[in-house]
Parts: sequence; structure tokens; C-alpha cells
Amino acid sequence: MALPEGFIAELKSRNSIADVIGSYVPIKKMGRNLKCKCPFHNETDASLVVYTDSQSFYCFGCGVAGDVISFVRKIENLNYIEAVHKLAERANLEVPEQDGRYAQAGQDRKRVIEINKVAARFFYDCLLSDEGKGARDYLKGRKLSAKTITRFGLGYAPDSWDRLTNFLLQKGYTENELTMAAVAVKGRQKGVYDQFRARIIFPIINVRGEVIGFGGRIMEGKGPKYLNSADTPAFKKSRNLFAMNIAKSSRQKRLILAEGYMDVIALHQADFDNAVATLGTALTSEQAYLISNYTEEVVISYDSDSPGQAAARRAASVFEKTPVQVRILEMIGAKDPDEYIVKYSAERYAILVENSAAAPEYFLGKIRGNYVLETPEGQVGYLREAAGYLRTITDAGVREIYAARLAQELSLEKDTVVAQVRGREQGKKAARPGQNTPSTQSGADRREDAGPITDQKARKAEEILIATLYRNPDYQSLYEKKLPPEYFVHQTNQKLYITMLEQMREGRLDISTVTDSGKLTEEEAARLIYMINSAKIPNVTQAEVLEYINVLQERKNKKSANEIKEMDKDDLQAYIESLSSKKTGGSNV
Ligand code: CTP
Ligand code: MN
Repeated sequence: MALPEGFIAELKSRNSIADVIGSYVPIKKMGRNLKCKCPFHNETDASLVVYTDSQSFYCFGCGVAGDVISFVRKIENLNYIEAVHKLAERANLEVPEQDGRYAQAGQDRKRVIEINKVAARFFYDCLLSDEGKGARDYLKGRKLSAKTITRFGLGYAPDSWDRLTNFLLQKGYTENELTMAAVAVKGRQKGVYDQFRARIIFPIINVRGEVIGFGGRIMEGKGPKYLNSADTPAFKKSRNLFAMNIAKSSRQKRLILAEGYMDVIALHQADFDNAVATLGTALTSEQAYLISNYTEEVVISYDSDSPGQAAARRAASVFEKTPVQVRILEMIGAKDPDEYIVKYSAERYAILVENSAAAPEYFLGKIRGNYVLETPEGQVGYLREAAGYLRTITDAGVREIYAARLAQELSLEKDTVVAQVRGREQGKKAARPGQNTPSTQSGADRREDAGPITDQKARKAEEILIATLYRNPDYQSLYEKKLPPEYFVHQTNQKLYITMLEQMREGRLDISTVTDSGKLTEEEAARLIYMINSAKIPNVTQAEVLEYINVLQERKNKKSANEIKEMDKDDLQAYIESLSSKKTGGSNV
């Protein structure tokens, strides 16, 4: 059991979402609902709508959404339980003794942090002991000083299957706890064995100074170059950044975002104490928000190869939801910042930081480089590709400024360029009414746009069915009987539906349980909140529910002409049989 259900309900009823949001940003009434400037992205309009009935919010500018708890989590950068405590304090409520899930999660987290701390010490001691000689030589070869090694608490995991495991078991930790902390892995037969073997260890420390996980680099031989701790009750890769614990107190006015552990360490050693890195994944919006808590400007300094450049472009777009200004550092003659500093010096790297260009300028420059601007074809190509890039910028102001520049550069009327930039964007909106929210510009959705699944009728039916179920939980058994998840054409909607049913079966469906279930991405959760609040999605009766289910069922059963053309004889036979059995079996929905 989680926190008692009644408590969360009481907590929410005593913390009106409008009051809470209003305590952070000026908020205006707009009929039943309210409106304000979104604190999660940079804007001049007021795009964030607060819905009184459902006690939720949705930003039409950046797609962030949630309930009062998720608002506090986001704006204060807290976890669920911390946000609950904050709101409880605000409403003068006492948080009840947490039996069950959250209490357990809190205990587990503490235990993991403790184990990590002991393990970090163990790795560090190994590095300094005789058996760490090879590792010390390796680090020396990579030009790290003893001071740097201590500062980052680097370590060495010995070449053994059970050294750390035995060490921790002797200290009284259980095998289960070791696997929970992800310092050990369950063996195939029985027992557990060390996760990190014969690797340089990079402890990952959060902004509160807790060791939450580890990265481990191989020194020689086969195997993945880096291994990272799996997610644990104390560690989520997507929410943390390497070296943020140090960079957060840097006096530099901006942060440097690099790709790798070694880049960050080399940068810090060269006095760039403002460098951080993601933990082996692409930058997430949670990490971008985390960065936005500490700085207004970030310099992306990724690898100079083409995957690095592509990743830089994606990272820049992730920052668009935040108020952080992005610059891109261009490096020639070295693969990454670490190599650059070793090869060319810190002073030269500092010049690259100073010379880094604002993201749009940088990317437009790259695009320009692909065309011969002396020819009309080159100009047209440049205009098209540049307009395509500008279209991906969500901030209208930024988009206009660069459109104007582009016009000047090509000696065109500004309106021509602006139209080019806007043109297709509006076409896209017109094609998908009610879907023109940034959350639909996620990677997954762009694929939907391009693929064959732009089935408007099915989409509408799905949205109505989902919104109606949320608004009428008593329809649950009807849905369970008549609407199997496979009927959904759109993957995201199907996932939302499955998650909702799961939560309903546990008897706890409300916005925060769904969005905090950990099963949905931020974008998926935002889409759900959009659907259940949107006035464009009507509430329907049970009879109408059956009709919409019918729409989906028919889609499901009907194969496209193309699919039929491709079927082999056996498939075709089976398909024909399935059709006739449906007729006789009677789908009486
Ligand atoms: N990474 C990972 N798993 C891998 C390879 C890389 O998690 N198998 C992550 C690590 O966080 C690493 C980052 O991606 O720091 C960058 O990888 P890469 O550029 O390959 O390594 P470098 O940082 O250059 O590492 P080194 O200089 O030690 O070779
Ligand atoms: Mn490197």
C-alpha cells in the first residue's frame, strides 16, 4: 500500500492547483479555468491552462502537464514523496506513517545509498592498493593527476567475480540488497556476483552529495567500453548528470555539457569546473530542467564526429522547453574535449568556448556549408533546408529572428522566408486538428506522421474512448468486456489505455497515479492530460462508447488493399475464414 488514498485526496483538496501555481507565477481567471505564463519554458504568451474541474494543468506551448503534485515536483525539482511533504506542510497536514510502497521505497533508497558509499570506498582503496597499479598507470596514461582522482573519487574494481560481493556480505548486507543496489548481479544458478570487474570506476554523485551509482570503464580486452549501474531506487540515469554535484557551485556563468565521463574529468582538471555529462543516454528533458535550475546558458561540447553532431542537435532541441540558452562548441582536430585538451591545451579549448555560437546560428551555418550559394539551385536548397530547420524551433520569436536573417542573406523579402518556414507547419496543423501541441512533435509522433497510421477516424475514436473512460470510471467493466487494447491503432493511445486499466484495477486512477506510475514518458502523460481536459473531446454515453469501439474493431478487421495484395495463399485463406466467422459468430457490440 502506498500513502493512504484518503490522504492524497485530502492533500489535493487542501492545495487548490490554482493557488499553488499562483504562488509561483501570476495567474489570471478565464471562465472556469485559469491561465498563466508557463514557468517551464520561455514565453511571452500565457499558454499554461489550469483546469479547475480536474485540478490539472496543461501547457499548450511546451506540452508539460500534470496535477498539483507534479507541478511542485517539476518546479522545485523534487521527487514524488518530497513534493507530497512540501504540499502537506503548506496545508498544515501531517503526512501519515507510510506503510507500504513509498515507505519501502524510502528505506530501499537509503540502503542503496549506504551500500554505494561503502562500495565507492572499496573501489577507491583498491585503486590505491597494489592490485590497483595497472589502473593507476592507465589513469596516468590518460593524464589524470592524483588530485583529480581523489576529487572524483575514482576507483578500481578488481579482476574478480566476488571481491566486492564478499566484502559487502561480510558487512551484513544481503544478496538481495546488493542486487537492488546494482553493485551485484544474480547468478544464473544461484548467488550473486560483482557487476564491475577489472574496470576503472567513476562514482556518480547527485547534487545532494550521495553516491547514487557507478560507471565503469574497461581498460583492455573485450566487452562494452563502459558499463553503468542499472536504475535502482536511488538512481535514475535519465534524471542525473555526471559531476553536477561539483558544477552546481561553479562560478562560471554557464555550464558545459559533454558526452563522456572522461571529457568531464579532463575539463575539470583543466579548471572548467562547470562541465557535466549525461550518463550514457541521450539528454532527457528531466536533465535539461535540472540544468535550468542552475544556469541560464549551456555550451554543448559533444564529440566532433557525426553521431556527436547529431546528438548535439537533438540535445539543443530538448533545451527548447526550458529557458536555457544553448551554444554549440565546434572542435576540429580532436574527437572529444578530453582529447582536445590533451592535444592542444586548455587555453585553446577556452577559446572554443568563447567562440561557441548560439545553436540556431551554428546549425544554419552547417546547413549553409552544404550548398554552393552562388547558384540558384544552391540558394533554393539552402532556403529549403534552413526553413526546415527553423520550423523545428518552437520559440516563435527565435524563429522569426533567424527567418529575417536568412531573408537578408538570400536577398529575399522577409515575408517569403517566413511563409516558407510557416507554410508546411500550418499545413501540418490543418491536417491534424487538435493535435498541434508540441508534445505531438516527439520522435515517436513524427514517425506516426510519416507512416501509414494517420488514421483520423480511429484517432478521434480512441481519444474519445480514453477521455470518456477517465471521466466515467464506472464504465470500466464495459471497456474491459468490449475493448481489448489491440483495437487501438495508435501505439501511444494503446499504451495509455493499458496503463489506465492497470491503475483502475488497483483502484487508484487519477492523474498523478497514471503520470507517476513510471510507465509513461513525460510526453505520453502530457497527451493523456491533454485528452481528458480538451473541450474538443466530448464526453459520450455508453451507447456511443459502443459505437466508437465498433469503429476501431472494424479498422482492426479490415486489412488494407495493399496488405491483401501481399498475403500468401494460406494467410489469405485464414483471413477470409476470420471474416466469415466474425459474421456468424456475431460481433454484437
Ligand atoms: N557510454 C556508455 N556505454 C558504452 C560507451 C559509451 O555508457 N559502451 C557512455 C559513457 O557515459 C561515455 C560516453 O557514453 O562516457 C561517451 O562515450 P565515448 O565517446 O565512446 O567514450 P569517451 O567518453 O570518449 O571515453 P574514453 O575517452 O574513455 O574512450
Ligand atoms: Mn574520449
